[in-house]
Formats: sequence, structure tokens, C-alpha cells
Amino acid sequence: MTSSAEVPMPALETITDSKDFQEPTRKPKLSKRAQGSKDAATFIEKFEDLLNKQYSPQNVNGLVNFGVAENTLMQVELKEYFNSHLNLQDLDFTYGDSCAGSKRLFDAVIRLFDRYFKPVKKMLHEHIICGAGQSAILDQLTHVLCDEGEAILVARPFYSGFINDISGRAGCRLIGVDVGTQDPSSTQTLKAFDATMETLLNSDPPIRPRAVILCNPNNPLGFNYPRETLLAYCEFAQKWDLHLLSDEIYALSQFENAEKEREGTKRSFVSMLNVDIEKETRCEPSRVHVLYGMSKDFCANGLRLGVMVTQHNPELRKTLLGISLLMKVSSPADALWSGLLNDDQMLEYFITTNQKKLGDTLKHCQIFFSKYGIPLLQPEAAHFIFMDLRGYLREVTDSGEKLQTGVEQETDLFYSFVQNGVYVAPATGYGYPIPGWFRFTFCMRRDYLDIGLERMAKVLNIRKKK
Ligand SMILES: Cc1ncc(COP(=O)(O)O)c(C=O)c1O
Repeated sequence: MTSSAEVPMPALETITDSKDFQEPTRKPKLSKRAQGSKDAATFIEKFEDLLNKQYSPQNVNGLVNFGVAENTLMQVELKEYFNSHLNLQDLDFTYGDSCAGSKRLFDAVIRLFDRYFKPVKKMLHEHIICGAGQSAILDQLTHVLCDEGEAILVARPFYSGFINDISGRAGCRLIGVDVGTQDPSSTQTLKAFDATMETLLNSDPPIRPRAVILCNPNNPLGFNYPRETLLAYCEFAQKWDLHLLSDEIYALSQFENAEKEREGTKRSFVSMLNVDIEKETRCEPSRVHVLYGMSKDFCANGLRLGVMVTQHNPELRKTLLGISLLMKVSSPADALWSGLLNDDQMLEYFITTNQKKLGDTLKHCQIFFSKYGIPLLQPEAAHFIFMDLRGYLREVTDSGEKLQTGVEQETDLFYSFVQNGVYVAPATGYGYPIPGWFRFTFCMRRDYLDIGLERMAKVLNIRKKK
């Protein structure tokens, strides 16, 4: 029983504080913590602005958007399948049977992982946390792994959305590590990580990293990491007492690329789930977690469904479970994905058709870019062509203004594209050290893609060196 003396009573003065009443224009305050979210809003406003200005048959003067990782190659098939297969049950109208997803969803994702990721350890429901998108999971994960001001490391260039996921609410920092441009997938890159750790821990005040992200397949560079680099990341995490977050959201977006075959650099995807951490490394396995989701491989950014797998860390799983209702997957998204994952025939058809279309679309773009002599970093996975447009930069604008730096020249080219109705993302925005490179999201339905390429051609033709 609670006695009345124990019931907290606000002091009357604070309610009737006459000063408060005399200043009706005084604005209500936000928390100090909210500053991180306010800063994040600057990025989100720009992002929303881009989304609202996009090309569509209803907005023909809009921007063809090669900047955002949205795969529209399978929209027709998915619309037809999902619109005819939504089968909600009584449980879907309730809080269901798990706040971290549902038992139906856990079973379905386990089937997917077993078939395509080949986990060495049997996957169980209690290894999984689902949430409303992988971004939401990373936000919650940062909140429980790092204290405010602490850091998470990632190789540069990196998916820029990580910044907001890590800083927006948890108030932590993403630190991009410059691993050079020679071979960004090699074990040698961990030397740069070691050096960064030394610098951060010896800085004044020291910055404490708590985790490292491995983005495999890599956004924005489009390669699969070799197994030995996965092992090197595990060793690195152990050496510096870090968690290792393996972001595998592009795992099934694999495709053929004849150029890559010709280079002899083609590699298959290996999941961190396929590494026997205990046997193959000296890493404590409870450090290692895998992130996945529906957005990229299942062409469904809007359905908001992410998955985290942690097979050796029940404490972390339990901690996340405690706040999982805050990001619970909506039951229609759960029902749709589970249905597709349990339909073997459709799943196989969907994955192989998507991969075939990715390969065909890549080839179409390669032919276009080769006409303009544009060097490409040949991709084998994910959604991007990373390309060198330095040959198309200029030093003086039409109005005679001198462009002094590489970044100014890159920005100038970016705006020339925008003025001609296309959005292509400058790679310096992803932390790439050399201005003049761009990330081009190629997985676009052909009718939009060709309009975009035609618009790019206008800019390239004007700037083509005689
Ligand atoms: C590497 C990577 N991780 C995570 C995400 C975010 O995924 P979600 O839509 O599930 O939040 C993206 C989106 O572009 C991404 O490229």
C-alpha cells in the first residue's frame, strides 16, 4: 500500500509561479539531449526535400533520383504478390506473441538465413530481434552499447545514414576510418583501424569507441569482403574490446558483372553467421552481431522491417527486448515478409529475378558510361556504381567564376546535374577522400533510368573534353 505521504506532490509554487504566467510568449523547452535530434533534422530535411522533388510521370520536371538506395526493379512483381497475399490473422490485431517481432517472423527469417547465409550455429528465436527498419535497430543498439559521447568506427567511404542512426538519439559519434583507396576490402585496412584507436584513446579528452561496423556487401563500393577480412575484423574487435556490427543488408543483392570477372576480382558473399567465431578467431563471440532487413534485398524500404541476430549474447538480446516495443514491426509488414519467406517457390523466383535484373541494369549503365570514357569501380553486389567523374570537372563556371578546390568543382558538377533534372551523389559525402567521384544507384526501373541517363548525357556532352 502506498501511503499518501509517499505520493509525489508537486509544490504548489511551481504550478502557480507568477513569473511563468507573466511571460506567455516564453517557449516551452526541449531537453538538452534533443540537440542531437535537431542536428539530425538538418540532414532529414534535405533528404525529404529530395524525395519531394523526385521525378514521376505526375512530376515530369522532377529529379531522377540516383542518390538513394531504393531498388525499383521488382516493383511490379512485388505489388502483385503482396496485394494478393496479405493474410492477417486475429493475432495481427493485438500486440502479438513477441515485442521483438513475432514467432511467425522469427521462423520465417530463420528459414531465410539457413538457406542463404549458412549460419554455423543453429539459429533460434532467442537470437533474433526485429524492428521497424535496420536504422531503428542501430539506433537502439547504439543506445545500449555506447554512452553519450562514445564512438562507433566504420571504414570510409561509408553509408552516410549511419551518422544519424548513431548520433540522432544516442548522442554518439560515427568515426570514419580512412583505409586508403588501394584495396578497401583487404585485411591490411585493419592497420588504419589500429592507428585510429591509438589516436582516439590518446586524444584529450580520450574518445572511447565501443563498436565497429563492417558493411558487407559494401555500401557504397559494391564489393563482398573476403572471409579473411571478416576474421580480421573479429580479431580487431577482440583486441580493442569492441562490439562488431556486421551490416549485411545487401547480402542477396548479388549479380553478374562481366567486367569484374575479367578483372579476376569477383568474390562471393560470406556472412558473418557463417564464421565459427570460437574456432576460427580468438574473438569472444558475444561481441559479434549481424544486421539485416527487408529494405534492400526485398526492394521494400517503405515497409520498415529490420533484423538483428546475436547468437552468443543473451544479455544484449534481453536488454534490447526491454525497449523493443518502441520499434515493433507493424503486423502487415510482418505478415507480408513472413508470407514471402515461407513461399519457397516465390522466394527463389524473387531473388533470382532481382539478381538477374540487377546484372542486366548494370550492363545497360556500363554501356552508357563507357561511351563517355568514365572509369568505374566494378561492383559485384549492392545497388551502386562508384564512378570517377574527374574528367568532367571544370575550373571555371559559365559566369567566369574560378573553382579553386576539387570539392568546389565536384559541387559544381553536382549542381549541373541537378539543373538538368538528375541527382547523383558526390562521394565526398560518404567520406571518400578524392573529390570528383560519385555514387550512382543503378537499380532503377528502366523507364525512369533511361530518362535519367538522357539528362546526364546532356551535362556530359557539354563538358566532354574536345
Ligand atoms: C548499409 C545500409 N545499412 C542500413 C540501411 C538502412 O536500412 P533501413 O531502411 O532498414 O533502415 C541502409 C539504407 O540505405 C544501408 O545502405
